[in-house]
Amino acid sequence: MNPQNKKEIERRRTFAIISHPDAGKTTLTEKLLLYGGAIQSAGSVKGKQSDKHAVSDWMELEKQRGISVTSSVMQFEYDGYCINILDTPGHQDFSEDTYRTLMAADSAVMIIDAAKGIEPQTRKLFKVCAMRGIPIFTFINKLDHEARDPFELLDELETEFGIATYPMNWPISCGITFKGIYDRNTRQILTYDNFHGGRNRLEAICCDVDDVERLDELIGENLREELFFQTELLDGAGSEFDLDEVQKGKLSPVFFGSALNNFGVEQFLESFLKMTSSPLPRLTEDAQVVDPFDDKFSAFVFKIQANMNKAHRDRISFMRICSGKFERGTEYYHVQSDKSLRLSQPQQMMAQERDIIDEAYAGDIIGVFDPGIFSIGDTICDKSMNLRFSGIPTFAPEHFAIIEQVDSMKRKQFAKGMHQIAQEGAIQIFFTPNGGMERVIVGVIGMLQFDVLKFRMKSEYGVEYIRQDIPHDQIRRVKTPEFNSDNFNLAGDTRWVKDVRGNDLLIFNGQWTVQWAIDKNENLELAEFHQDM
Ligand code: G4P
Repeated sequence: MNPQNKKEIERRRTFAIISHPDAGKTTLTEKLLLYGGAIQSAGSVKGKQSDKHAVSDWMELEKQRGISVTSSVMQFEYDGYCINILDTPGHQDFSEDTYRTLMAADSAVMIIDAAKGIEPQTRKLFKVCAMRGIPIFTFINKLDHEARDPFELLDELETEFGIATYPMNWPISCGITFKGIYDRNTRQILTYDNFHGGRNRLEAICCDVDDVERLDELIGENLREELFFQTELLDGAGSEFDLDEVQKGKLSPVFFGSALNNFGVEQFLESFLKMTSSPLPRLTEDAQVVDPFDDKFSAFVFKIQANMNKAHRDRISFMRICSGKFERGTEYYHVQSDKSLRLSQPQQMMAQERDIIDEAYAGDIIGVFDPGIFSIGDTICDKSMNLRFSGIPTFAPEHFAIIEQVDSMKRKQFAKGMHQIAQEGAIQIFFTPNGGMERVIVGVIGMLQFDVLKFRMKSEYGVEYIRQDIPHDQIRRVKTPEFNSDNFNLAGDTRWVKDVRGNDLLIFNGQWTVQWAIDKNENLELAEFHQDM
């Protein structure tokens, strides 16, 4: 490969930040962007309680609710690295978008609130990372507040997630007596200046851990003794650091700090950038490996965002570049439609602005205007390459509702809207066999997706509908050929539906009805819902 292109790819780092809401994801992202000089002031990323809207708040609904529904991408430079941060929605109720975003990342930074430890959303997101073997780096935040015992927090990570942890630094107390962190690698103490709220990082004092006298002055004898005791324990009993294990996703390096006070953030960033890898190879459907350093361009669509610009009713497809270099104006091949095309107005997020770009490299995320040709999981590549990236899994919906149009004059718009929104992956739709299109069953992972659907159907397609939630929470694929539910003994409210491709599925109300179907029907073959889009 051309050495210049190779260098560009080598310096790329593409990662997602994951956390339970309120653990500090927005705050940490903002500090990272500040270091990269990508934003000028704190508060620029955040939209929650101010009138400044987060970079990703494109949709009206997001603004109204003050939340970020969709995930966005931000690129910035730091210390010779070109960094792509994939932001994931930070609200309680999340959707498949979050999962898919993780498919485009090479590693993940997991933020944990030191007072709370693992929370439900951290758990869900971790599972997806683990499924893909994505390396996970942990930032334990809010040490300036009362926190749980650090050993206990590590223990929780290890037992709940089944991974080893390696603390890169160690906190010296917490809350009002928080004194700083000890860097295990450099053996330096970085003190937290409570008086200044730690805001000005230049005022933090660095001290060698072996300089006991100075250490006693800075943190007091008691805390110094406690630190020595704890680090001895760590050195004796903890896991060994092994970069290989980190990159396999089996060992999570752990950092302590306070994002709000900008304490420990730069140390985290520097250390993280060294440990995380440049863009990783990707697999195709037939298990071939696509090397990011291959000269030829290839990418896959992992997210589709509709109507980001109200003036145009376009949608933007986000793709992760997997190999080579993208050049604007070049004709590429869209595998699924078997057509050559020029990607229109390719753009990249640079913190707050979207820029039209001329080139991008493996590891980068680009957004292109999409007149409705792309679907989630599609491959776009150099004309001479014939490959399909392995699909992005569709996750099993956990909530279902019957959606019925109100105005039969708008049948066409209803069908079009439901199909397009489903094609973007914002919802999943199912049909009753032999039923019409005026009534569909919609499946979602987070209830908020229903709000987004309602809003979009009204504002983009001018259609209103009635939604009737159903208590079903399980879905299975039926593998029995020529299935007809009349021929099987199923619990009363089990529903037989078909997906857009005509596959048979069963929707169950509670786990016991699934068990009933299995127990009572020898010739019924059910499979997990997970499938590639
Ligand atoms: P999220 O994106 O993960 O949802 O979390 P976000 O960064 O919005 O942080 C949630 C709350 O936690 C915010 O307070 C934020 O200021 C606070 N926070 C983040 N990092 C730290 C930290 O290191 N120490 C302390 N003490 N607090 C931290 P808020 O009151 O909800 O919002 P705001 O009024 O500050 O905007």
